[in-house]
Order: sequence, then C-alpha cells, then structure tokens
Amino acid sequence: MAAPFYSLGASEQEQARLYRQRELYGDTAGIKFSSTDVVCEIGSGVGANLWIAKQVARGRYVGIDVKSKQNEAAAKQACTMGLKNTEFRTAGGDNTGLADGCVDATFCRCVLIHQPDPIPLIAEMCRITKPGGRIIISEPHDASYHCGPDKTHLMKCFRARTHYAYGDGRGSPEVALNLYPLLIRQGLRDLRVTPHVITAHGREPERCRAFLQNWLGIIATVADSLLEMGAVSQRDLDLAAAEAEDITAETFLYQTMWIAEAIK
Ligand SMILES: C[S@@+](CC[C@H](N)C(=O)[O-])C[C@H]1O[C@@H](n2cnc3c(N)ncnc32)[C@H](O)[C@@H]1O
Repeated sequence: MAAPFYSLGASEQEQARLYRQRELYGDTAGIKFSSTDVVCEIGSGVGANLWIAKQVARGRYVGIDVKSKQNEAAAKQACTMGLKNTEFRTAGGDNTGLADGCVDATFCRCVLIHQPDPIPLIAEMCRITKPGGRIIISEPHDASYHCGPDKTHLMKCFRARTHYAYGDGRGSPEVALNLYPLLIRQGLRDLRVTPHVITAHGREPERCRAFLQNWLGIIATVADSLLEMGAVSQRDLDLAAAEAEDITAETFLYQTMWIAEAIK
C-alpha cells in the first residue's frame, strides 16, 4: 500500500504533542468500555488513548497505525504504564488484517480528517466489529477553530496549514460534520452524533496557552512547506508564536470536535 499523505508526520516533537493534546482533550467526553471488551483503535498514534487499554483491563486493546514509528512509541508507552493487554500492528486503517467481527468495539480519533476518502476506514471498522458491537469516532472540525482578539497571524498560519494538509482532496476537512450520513449508510443503529465544544478564555491563561501551543505545534509540522509555497512568511510565523504567548483577560478560543457513536 502506498503511504497516505499525512501532514503531521512522526517527529519526536509531534509525538510529544499528541500526548499533550490528549491531556487537553480528556478521555473523549466520558466514553466507557466494559472491562472485558476487545477494542481496536484505528490510527492509534503514540498510544495517547491507552486509557482504553486501562479500562479493558480483562480484555484486549489492539492499536493499528500505518507508521511503525508511532507503534514503537505506543508500545513503549504501554510498557511504561504497565499494560499487558495491548498489541500494536503496522497496517492501513482500511486493511487491518483482523478477522470479521473479532472486536467488541472500534475507536478512531483525529484520523479520518487526514484521509482523502474516509469511507474505506469506516467500512473496515464496521467489518471487524462484532454484530451488536460499538463504533466510536471523534473528529475535529478545523474550520470551527478560532482564537481572538488580535490573533490574526496565528489564525492566518492555522488556516494556511489546514489548506495545505487537507485542501484539494488531500484530506477530508468537513468529515466531522458528515459523520451522521457516513455512518448511517453503513447500516448502523442507535447512531448519535454530538459536539464536544472546547473553549478557553483569559481567566484561565495556562489553559489558553496550552491550547494555543498545541495549534502552533500543528502548524510547525508543515511550517517549512508553508514557507516554501509562500503561503506564510517567517514574520507571520514569528508573530503567530508571539500571539500565542500574549494572553489577556479578553483572550478567547473555541474549537469543536464531533463524536459519533453507533451499534453495528
Ligand atoms: C493525529 S494522529 C492521532 C492519533 C491518536 N488517534 C490520538 O488521538 O492521539 C493520527 C494518526 O493516524 C495515523 N494514520 C493516518 N492515516 C492512517 C491510515 N490510513 N491508516 C492507519 N493509520 C493512519 C497516523 O500515523 C497518526 O499516528
């Protein structure tokens, strides 16, 4: 399989950012698994969602990621956490190599947005989930991300990154808003799609700073390409970094993730 275009890469900085991002987002809005469940995470990255493996202490967690470097970091993380019920496989999310109906639940977060076509990954999640099992997907809607006031360079760089990463068919920037139609077509039942709205304001400067640093980290993964293309200048990037540090009483940021949960 040709490696899919994936803008965030797997540098050490990016791997560290994924752990910090998980801290910021929390355990995905209270999703719970039973302790004996077998759960497969598609696009499991560096193991930021190993809270799932902890929940399924008497079951099993299988992480699937297309990048072996991510799986190596995830396996190390599982070891650090003392988890003995994990397995990591290097494979595309559309071709996991797992048997039909072999897991109780599948989970996927911040992965479909990176796919030119998310349907094969969704179909694979449905295939490997047992009848009556759960399918859970959480995706960000990048266009909803906003911070202000006077954070024009930060927003400019973030939007340029969104266009570079997902524009012209390189990803699916609207997938978060399309989870309902995409999943209902798979014949799933009890489908619920809910927004997970995240805000931070100047009364919580450390929280604001942490979110804005996360946005800067997302931009940093493609900064060289953005400069080369002329989409942003070095001055834009420098001013964006300064704006992320300049938290006042008026600072406000907003971002929405959408979470879909359904039964096969
Ligand atoms: C933004 S990270 C999210 C990781 C993790 N789900 C989390 O919430 O921290 C996306 C991950 O999906 C992986 N990925 C991207 N496209 C994939 C594909 N087609 N199949 C499997 N993994 C993929 C990347 O290598 C990366 O580790």
